[in-house]
Amino acid sequence: MGGSASFPVVQIPKSRIFLITGANAGIGYEMAKWSAMMGATVILACRSEDRARKAMERMQEEFKTEKEKGTTGLTDSPTLALEFMKLDLASFQSVVEFCEEFKKSGRQLHVLCCNAGLAISHGKRSADGLEIMLQVNYLSHCIILAKFLPIMKKSGPDCRIVLTSSKAHENGTFDVATMNYTGTVERFPEFDYYGRSKLYQVMQTIALSRSLKNSNITINSFHPGLVDTEIFRPADTCFMKCCLCFCKTIGGMRTCLEGATTGIDLATNPKHAGVSGRYWVDCKITTPSSTSRDEQKQATLWKETYPFIQKYLTEEDISNLEEKSQE
Ligand SMILES: NC(=O)c1ccc[n+]([C@@H]2O[C@H](COP(=O)([O-])OP(=O)(O)OC[C@H]3O[C@@H](n4cnc5c(N)ncnc54)[C@H](OP(=O)(O)O)[C@@H]3O)[C@@H](O)[C@H]2O)c1
Repeated sequence: MGGSASFPVVQIPKSRIFLITGANAGIGYEMAKWSAMMGATVILACRSEDRARKAMERMQEEFKTEKEKGTTGLTDSPTLALEFMKLDLASFQSVVEFCEEFKKSGRQLHVLCCNAGLAISHGKRSADGLEIMLQVNYLSHCIILAKFLPIMKKSGPDCRIVLTSSKAHENGTFDVATMNYTGTVERFPEFDYYGRSKLYQVMQTIALSRSLKNSNITINSFHPGLVDTEIFRPADTCFMKCCLCFCKTIGGMRTCLEGATTGIDLATNPKHAGVSGRYWVDCKITTPSSTSRDEQKQATLWKETYPFIQKYLTEEDISNLEEKSQE
């Protein structure tokens, strides 16, 4: 166990490649840093190169500090193996280009963390005209999954997919007719749509795990707790600001590392090899909402997801997801 870590700090070979979306801040930052500090090669898939490069510099500094503190189990390498790749999840074009670039590199992929997300969008739309949380938190990650599953299948044993979901999935309405919000910005039900996007992630985890059952890939999702990250920065109503202030004051918010702990554990702990289709809270398997566990609703979700992303997928990509949702 490392000095400041509450998960086992294990040795990971540099040849093991991790790809983490939204790794320049918050929970993703800690997941990337700790995976790299254990020895993995970590690709930070982020929309801003400048923010990602600054995050990478900070990680290198914090790595030195962690070594000076005498944290055991860290990589012997003098620097962390960190790389940047451009990815804007609010643009399907960017997502497709990102996937193409990675495919072209011919590299393996062992751990994919679908972490990037938004929780407060004020009804904003993506570059493709969709409700932005639906696209960033769920649809764009679906394209990445469809395109990367074949790469992961060829990447050897114990490949893992980890989705940063949320307890908010319990409050998301399952109503596929209104999956993409088309109402006015003023009436946008922010928390419902955030919860919906997180619900889709949990449903996808369970559905995909069924067909990945006899493969080398596991898929799990987790709730990080209420974490003091930049996700709340767009909060602008008095009510929201007061709630956040109250939570911080009473110590009800976790640090980024505390929030990332379950994700890091899922991505790196050898104990979790072969465990799949589960929803985790505080490093423990937890039962997600009954809606998320409903197989019929999972099939409906895929049926309704398909038209949004069909244009960006090849026949092979589609079969990767379809087969998995229906088996
Ligand atoms: N914080 C919590 O209390 C909490 C609770 C439950 C679940 N979660 C989940 O945890 C995950 C990480 O959030 P966080 O709390 O760590 O928030 P955060 O500090 O705001 O980090 C979110 C990350 O997502 C990236 N991102 C946002 N929009 C993107 C886009 N269009 N394309 C690519 N990347 C984009 C951000 O990049 P930029 O820096 O460029 O904006 C940032 O790197 C989210 O999925 C969230 O739903 C958080």
